[in-house]
Amino acid sequence: MSIYPLRAISLIGYRGSGKSSAAPLLAERLGWEWVDVDNEIQLLTGHSIRHIFEFDGEIAFRDVESVVLSNICFREHVVIATGGGAVLKPENRQRMREVGAVVWLQASIQTLWQRICSDPRSAAMRPALTNRDPLSEIELLLSEREPLYAEAATLVVNTDGLSTERIVDEILMEIEPLVPRETSA
Ligand code: S3P
Repeated sequence: MSIYPLRAISLIGYRGSGKSSAAPLLAERLGWEWVDVDNEIQLLTGHSIRHIFEFDGEIAFRDVESVVLSNICFREHVVIATGGGAVLKPENRQRMREVGAVVWLQASIQTLWQRICSDPRSAAMRPALTNRDPLSEIELLLSEREPLYAEAATLVVNTDGLSTERIVDEILMEIEPLVPRETSA
Protein backbone atom coordinates (compact mmCIF):
# COMPACT_ATOMS: atom_id res chain seq x y z
CA MET A 1 0.00 0.00 0.00
CA SER A 2 1.24 3.47 -0.79
CA ILE A 3 0.21 5.28 2.39
CA TYR A 4 2.27 8.46 1.70
CA PRO A 5 0.80 10.70 0.50
CA LEU A 6 -2.65 9.60 1.64
CA ARG A 7 -4.94 10.67 -1.20
CA ALA A 8 -8.10 8.74 -0.38
CA ILE A 9 -9.82 6.83 2.36
CA SER A 10 -12.11 4.09 1.08
CA LEU A 11 -14.78 2.70 3.36
CA ILE A 12 -15.62 -0.92 2.64
CA GLY A 13 -17.98 -3.41 4.28
CA TYR A 14 -21.29 -5.15 3.85
CA ARG A 15 -24.56 -3.33 3.23
CA GLY A 16 -25.58 -1.59 6.45
CA SER A 17 -22.07 -1.38 7.83
CA GLY A 18 -22.34 2.43 8.03
CA LYS A 19 -20.14 3.49 5.08
CA SER A 20 -22.52 6.13 3.71
CA SER A 21 -23.17 7.61 7.16
CA ALA A 22 -19.53 7.69 8.22
CA ALA A 23 -18.14 9.04 4.93
CA PRO A 24 -19.59 12.60 5.09
CA LEU A 25 -18.66 13.02 8.74
CA LEU A 26 -15.15 11.70 8.21
CA ALA A 27 -14.71 13.99 5.21
CA GLU A 28 -15.96 16.98 7.20
CA ARG A 29 -13.52 16.29 10.02
CA LEU A 30 -10.64 16.07 7.52
CA GLY A 31 -11.73 18.98 5.35
CA TRP A 32 -11.94 16.57 2.42
CA GLU A 33 -14.70 15.85 -0.09
CA TRP A 34 -16.65 12.61 0.02
CA VAL A 35 -18.35 10.56 -2.63
CA ASP A 36 -20.75 7.62 -2.60
CA VAL A 37 -20.01 5.21 -5.44
CA ASP A 38 -23.64 4.08 -5.76
CA ASN A 39 -24.80 7.69 -6.04
CA GLU A 40 -22.22 8.32 -8.77
CA ILE A 41 -23.40 5.22 -10.64
CA GLN A 42 -26.98 6.49 -10.47
CA LEU A 43 -25.93 9.94 -11.71
CA LEU A 44 -23.91 8.47 -14.57
CA THR A 45 -26.51 5.99 -15.75
CA GLY A 46 -29.66 7.92 -14.82
CA HIS A 47 -31.03 4.75 -13.21
CA SER A 48 -31.43 3.45 -9.68
CA ILE A 49 -29.19 0.60 -8.55
CA ARG A 50 -32.27 -1.60 -8.36
CA HIS A 51 -33.15 -0.75 -11.98
CA ILE A 52 -29.61 -1.57 -13.19
CA PHE A 53 -29.69 -4.95 -11.46
CA GLU A 54 -33.13 -5.72 -12.85
CA PHE A 55 -32.60 -4.65 -16.47
CA ASP A 56 -28.84 -5.01 -17.05
CA GLY A 57 -27.91 -7.61 -14.43
CA GLU A 58 -25.32 -7.80 -11.71
CA ILE A 59 -22.37 -8.39 -14.08
CA ALA A 60 -23.10 -5.13 -15.91
CA PHE A 61 -23.51 -3.35 -12.58
CA ARG A 62 -20.13 -4.63 -11.39
CA ASP A 63 -18.47 -3.35 -14.57
CA VAL A 64 -19.94 0.14 -14.15
CA GLU A 65 -19.09 0.09 -10.44
CA SER A 66 -15.48 -0.70 -11.28
CA VAL A 67 -15.15 2.11 -13.84
CA VAL A 68 -16.78 4.64 -11.49
CA LEU A 69 -14.60 3.60 -8.54
CA SER A 70 -11.47 3.71 -10.65
CA ASN A 71 -12.29 7.26 -11.81
CA ILE A 72 -12.99 8.41 -8.25
CA CYS A 73 -9.59 7.05 -7.24
CA PHE A 74 -7.95 9.75 -9.38
CA ARG A 75 -9.29 12.43 -7.04
CA GLU A 76 -7.23 13.92 -4.21
CA HIS A 77 -8.36 14.04 -0.59
CA VAL A 78 -11.55 12.12 -0.98
CA VAL A 79 -13.45 9.79 1.33
CA ILE A 80 -15.07 7.05 -0.76
CA ALA A 81 -18.20 5.21 0.43
CA THR A 82 -18.13 2.05 -1.66
CA GLY A 83 -20.95 -0.44 -2.28
CA GLY A 84 -20.83 -3.66 -0.29
CA GLY A 85 -19.74 -5.67 -3.33
CA ALA A 86 -16.98 -3.33 -4.51
CA VAL A 87 -14.36 -5.72 -3.14
CA LEU A 88 -15.47 -8.54 -5.45
CA LYS A 89 -13.19 -7.45 -8.29
CA PRO A 90 -9.47 -7.82 -7.53
CA GLU A 91 -8.67 -4.66 -9.50
CA ASN A 92 -10.96 -2.64 -7.21
CA ARG A 93 -9.22 -3.98 -4.11
CA GLN A 94 -5.85 -3.16 -5.61
CA ARG A 95 -6.84 0.33 -6.81
CA MET A 96 -8.24 1.38 -3.43
CA ARG A 97 -5.05 0.28 -1.68
CA GLU A 98 -2.88 2.06 -4.24
CA VAL A 99 -4.43 5.43 -3.48
CA GLY A 100 -4.69 5.30 0.29
CA ALA A 101 -6.25 3.73 3.32
CA VAL A 102 -9.01 1.15 3.09
CA VAL A 103 -11.20 0.91 6.17
CA TRP A 104 -13.36 -2.17 6.70
CA LEU A 105 -16.43 -1.30 8.75
CA GLN A 106 -17.34 -4.61 10.36
CA ALA A 107 -20.65 -5.43 12.03
CA SER A 108 -22.50 -8.50 13.22
CA ILE A 109 -25.22 -10.03 11.05
CA GLN A 110 -27.90 -8.78 13.46
CA THR A 111 -26.57 -5.22 13.35
CA LEU A 112 -26.37 -5.27 9.54
CA TRP A 113 -29.88 -6.62 9.28
CA GLN A 114 -31.30 -3.97 11.62
CA ARG A 115 -29.51 -1.13 9.83
CA ILE A 116 -30.61 -2.34 6.37
CA CYS A 117 -34.24 -2.61 7.52
CA SER A 118 -34.26 0.87 9.01
CA ASP A 119 -32.50 2.59 6.08
CA PRO A 120 -35.03 4.31 3.76
CA ARG A 121 -32.50 4.04 0.87
CA SER A 122 -32.65 0.25 0.91
CA ALA A 123 -35.53 -0.08 -1.55
CA ALA A 124 -33.76 1.82 -4.36
CA MET A 125 -30.16 0.89 -3.55
CA ARG A 126 -30.32 -2.70 -2.37
CA PRO A 127 -31.85 -5.21 -4.74
CA ALA A 128 -31.83 -8.87 -3.64
CA LEU A 129 -28.52 -10.51 -4.51
CA THR A 130 -29.65 -14.14 -4.09
CA ASN A 131 -32.89 -16.10 -3.96
CA ARG A 132 -32.51 -16.60 -0.23
CA ASP A 133 -34.45 -14.87 2.50
CA PRO A 134 -32.78 -11.59 3.51
CA LEU A 135 -31.12 -12.84 6.68
CA SER A 136 -29.59 -15.96 5.15
CA GLU A 137 -28.49 -13.85 2.16
CA ILE A 138 -26.43 -11.76 4.57
CA GLU A 139 -25.00 -14.92 6.17
CA LEU A 140 -24.01 -16.42 2.83
CA LEU A 141 -22.58 -13.30 1.21
CA LEU A 142 -20.76 -12.22 4.33
CA SER A 143 -19.03 -15.59 4.54
CA GLU A 144 -18.00 -15.24 0.89
CA ARG A 145 -16.90 -11.64 1.18
CA GLU A 146 -15.18 -11.51 4.55
CA PRO A 147 -11.88 -12.81 3.15
CA LEU A 148 -12.06 -10.12 0.45
CA TYR A 149 -12.79 -7.32 2.92
CA ALA A 150 -9.89 -8.60 5.03
CA GLU A 151 -7.57 -8.71 2.02
CA ALA A 152 -8.44 -5.17 0.93
CA ALA A 153 -8.45 -3.55 4.38
CA THR A 154 -5.61 -1.56 5.86
CA LEU A 155 -7.71 -0.85 8.96
CA VAL A 156 -10.63 -2.72 10.54
CA VAL A 157 -13.22 -1.03 12.77
CA ASN A 158 -15.89 -3.05 14.56
CA THR A 159 -18.97 -0.82 14.44
CA ASP A 160 -21.36 -2.85 16.61
CA GLY A 161 -22.99 -0.52 19.11
CA LEU A 162 -21.00 2.50 17.90
CA SER A 163 -22.55 5.79 16.82
CA THR A 164 -21.38 7.31 13.54
CA GLU A 165 -19.35 9.84 15.56
CA ARG A 166 -17.56 7.07 17.45
CA ILE A 167 -16.87 5.18 14.22
CA VAL A 168 -15.28 8.30 12.75
CA ASP A 169 -13.29 8.88 15.96
CA GLU A 170 -11.91 5.34 15.71
CA ILE A 171 -10.92 5.85 12.08
CA LEU A 172 -9.32 9.21 12.72
CA MET A 173 -7.32 7.92 15.66
CA GLU A 174 -5.48 5.62 13.26
CA ILE A 175 -5.56 7.66 10.08
CA GLU A 176 -5.05 11.27 11.14
CA PRO A 177 -1.28 10.95 11.70
CA LEU A 178 -1.00 9.90 8.04
CA VAL A 179 -2.95 12.87 6.68
CA PRO A 180 -0.84 15.79 5.43
CA ARG A 181 -1.05 18.60 8.03
CA GLU A 182 -2.34 21.36 5.74
CA THR A 183 -5.39 19.26 4.66
CA SER A 184 -6.34 18.18 8.18
CA ALA A 185 -9.34 20.06 9.65
C1 S3P B 1 -24.33 -4.16 -3.02
C2 S3P B 1 -24.39 -3.14 -2.08
C3 S3P B 1 -25.03 -1.85 -2.36
C4 S3P B 1 -25.08 -1.56 -3.85
C5 S3P B 1 -25.66 -2.71 -4.60
C6 S3P B 1 -24.84 -3.99 -4.41
C7 S3P B 1 -23.70 -5.44 -2.65
O1 S3P B 1 -24.33 -0.79 -1.69
O2 S3P B 1 -23.79 -1.28 -4.35
O3 S3P B 1 -26.98 -2.91 -4.15
O4 S3P B 1 -23.37 -6.24 -3.54
O5 S3P B 1 -23.50 -5.67 -1.44
P1 S3P B 1 -24.40 -0.58 -0.08
O6 S3P B 1 -23.33 -1.43 0.53
O7 S3P B 1 -24.11 0.88 0.09
O8 S3P B 1 -25.76 -0.96 0.38
